[in-house]
Amino acid sequence: MNVAVLISGRGSNLEAILEKEKQKELGNAVVSLVVSNIPDAKGLEIAKRYGKKTIVLPPHRNQNRETYDKQLAETLEKNNIDLVVLAGFMRILSPFFVNKFSNKIINIHPSLLPSFPGINAQKQALDYGAKITGCTVHFVDEKVDHGPIILQEVVLVDDSDTEETLAKKILEKEHILLPKAIRLFSEGKLIVEGRKVRIVN
Ligand code: GAR
Repeated sequence: MNVAVLISGRGSNLEAILEKEKQKELGNAVVSLVVSNIPDAKGLEIAKRYGKKTIVLPPHRNQNRETYDKQLAETLEKNNIDLVVLAGFMRILSPFFVNKFSNKIINIHPSLLPSFPGINAQKQALDYGAKITGCTVHFVDEKVDHGPIILQEVVLVDDSDTEETLAKKILEKEHILLPKAIRLFSEGKLIVEGRKVRIVN
């Protein structure tokens, strides 16, 4: 099963996935492509270090979302991609793209959705005074940070937490959760029923 990991930055989630693949803990999934919309994304170096094919797809000036997404979809289809993993990919996907890869796109978000969607989720949780937060892996639908939830993990917020310390604690859980979701998907163990995802044995 061919997986494309889409990134925009640091790529620590990408690295966690590639490490699990190396340890043969990614089920039937093979990361066959890493795509970045940002040319100097740090994660591209990680992909190369693991010998992965990389493609940089920066949006052209004034290019509308759907035109970009058509190009992205073509790239993924050319590479026979079965699962699209958003690992810190900071672009909103158009309904065109989401429908083309319906229930085949998963995203990791650093909060317990539906709380704190959008950017700076860790800061949102701190500012709100939440006592717990965490991370969510979910299928992507037409709304931002909204689709059916696959897995979630809780992180406790301490009084002494800063945005940085909280992000670090959440990231540790992300690195476990995202590869796990990919493995479950690759083994056909995720059954989507409306908003709910049933995990079968
Ligand atoms: C991760 O914390 C991920 O959850 C977040 O971006 C970071 C990427 O880190 N994604 C979002 O906020 C999406 N809404 P990484 O590049 O080191 O994997």
